[in-house]
Amino acid sequence: MAKPGKRKKTAAKTGVPKSAIWGGRFAGGPSQLMQDINASIRYDRALWAEDIAGSRAHAKMLADCQILTGDELAAILQGLDNIAAEIEQGAFEFSEALEDIHMNIEARLAELIGAPARKLHTARSRNDQVATDIRLWLRGRLDGLDGMLAALQQALVDQAARHTGTLMPGYTHLQTAQPVSFGFHLMAYTQMFGRDRARLADCRQRLNESPLGAAALAGTGFPIDRHQTAAELGFERPMENAMDAVSSRDFAVEFLGAAAICATHLSRLAEEIILWSTDRFGFIQLSDAFTTGSSIMPQKRNPDAAELVRAKPGRIIGGLVGLLTVLKGLPLAYGKDMQEDKEPVFDAEASLSIALAAMTGMIEDMQAKPEAMRAALAKGHPTATDLADFLVREMGLAFRDAHHISGEIVALAEARDCGLEELELAAMQEIHSALDARVLAVLSVDQALAARTSFGGTAPAELRRQITEAVGRFGLVLPQLDGEGEA
Ligand code: ARG
Repeated sequence: MAKPGKRKKTAAKTGVPKSAIWGGRFAGGPSQLMQDINASIRYDRALWAEDIAGSRAHAKMLADCQILTGDELAAILQGLDNIAAEIEQGAFEFSEALEDIHMNIEARLAELIGAPARKLHTARSRNDQVATDIRLWLRGRLDGLDGMLAALQQALVDQAARHTGTLMPGYTHLQTAQPVSFGFHLMAYTQMFGRDRARLADCRQRLNESPLGAAALAGTGFPIDRHQTAAELGFERPMENAMDAVSSRDFAVEFLGAAAICATHLSRLAEEIILWSTDRFGFIQLSDAFTTGSSIMPQKRNPDAAELVRAKPGRIIGGLVGLLTVLKGLPLAYGKDMQEDKEPVFDAEASLSIALAAMTGMIEDMQAKPEAMRAALAKGHPTATDLADFLVREMGLAFRDAHHISGEIVALAEARDCGLEELELAAMQEIHSALDARVLAVLSVDQALAARTSFGGTAPAELRRQITEAVGRFGLVLPQLDGEGEA
């Protein structure tokens, strides 16, 4: 049990100087602990460029609305430029005492240009400022993620195009189900990542409204022009309601939700890559670039990158649940609780980016092993459904009866420890006397693949159609398709 009272109570004597920015009504400064729990500069410095962009737009608008003079505006813009240069060069001194990125930049501006800096915060609050900053930041990152998802789709399409006729077992319950092509399997993910892009695009579209000028929560009495700052910052429009503007973080939740779904898709693919690259499967070989060795077992080629991609949903889903929990029951308008929005969003974006990049590299580099994939089809009777379909199509049986007869034939093959295609016709006729020699063709895995020509099916020609459609819809480059011109 932890001993109570271990941590020293912090009184005024252990405190820090009072805030130059908001300290007016205070006699003393906050305690060290207060500063430690309150400051967000450690992580919200990531918003510096957006914070400066927001301040520039705000200052220009204030000048256009005669709230600042032209000279004051010029000084502010010059000062903000200098601060941007300092931060870019690593020369800016971030201060914990100044809490967050907004006050760090404003305080530095005052150091650089003096009096005009003290007017910049007119008709603005940190509440609308921070909401504006995160929306701008996320909007930029969403564009980056979309490009990374497109690159991953391109890598999948390029591999798929080389393997439209490469047979492998398709699984359900991870038990051999029916033959599919390797390209078909990869194209399933191309579609999933396409929907992930659509979800992120949807999130981007909904978040692209400007909170700036909402001020603390109620709007302002100054004659400002929120439409001007919204347009200047590339937002579709100013947010309608000032209280909503400073209180809402559903855009961040939406991003985390879309990121969690995308990370989950990545983790399923990662798991398949891990399985496929085991000795048991041997369906692919990963490149040296995306595997590691073992410090003790010289033969190892470990799929660490895939394992880390498999793990990333842990923190992203955690961030999603975390932020929802922060917001649940939180009364309007701003509460400091909302400062906790940033780390999960930053972390999810970083995690998703690195996972997408690593996955793209793995997919681009991986070598398919068609012989091993075909060999795996020798077990598990993957054409049993084709046998049942044959009994329906050619023998006129109802599917349930056909299923039953096929099951008996499978049992016979199991008893003889052989594949369906290795049974003689006579042995099958003992189970269903009407069977004729045409059944033998149906039992081959090649035939099973070629037969699945239904829309969305795995037949090579249909897969080539799917690839071409995906390339058009997702704005990708059409690769050379293997087997083009064949059925
Ligand atoms: N650092 C704060 C945040 O991230 C900025 C807003 C502070 N607003 C306030 N009223 N204290 O949420």
